[in-house]
Amino acid sequence: MLRHDGPLQVSLPRITVADVEVANTTIPAGSMVHVVVAAANRDASRFVDPERLGITRTDNQHLGFGHGVHFCVGAALARMETRVAIGSLVTWFAGLRLAVPVEELQWEVNPILRSLVSLPVLT
Ligand code: HEM
Repeated sequence: MLRHDGPLQVSLPRITVADVEVANTTIPAGSMVHVVVAAANRDASRFVDPERLGITRTDNQHLGFGHGVHFCVGAALARMETRVAIGSLVTWFAGLRLAVPVEELQWEVNPILRSLVSLPVLT
């Protein structure tokens, strides 16, 4: 789920310490850049059928928690919370389903964090 549609779509800013070549473009040293992890997570050259959620996929080394020295320090906690929260929801509310057509869901306008304005459900 983090690969397919994680809450953090774009990394925090970074400043390049040297010229960096990305896809035939040189980003000069001293530039402020954001890495769009959401795009990397749906890179067709990295993931088979990237637009499909596929919760059983095993080749799933996504960037939903970042990468390298700034890898999310809360990743283990977030994974545990999500396991408990979603596991409990689907156990307690076996009939849980959307109360509105999926097209009517509204997303917050925020270039970095992706979240729903609300998620109306029926139990
Ligand atoms: C599903 C939940 C979460 C997601 C998707 C997430 C995602 C991320 C990502 C992508 C980064 C790297 C940002 C970057 O490279 O610019 C990050 C960093 C970080 N996260 Fe999380 N995070 C989550 C939950 C948490 C929780 C629960 C905590 C704390 C309890 C936390 C604390 C941090 C901190 C302190 C950093 C900065 C690490 C550093 O810069 O060295 N995160 N997170």
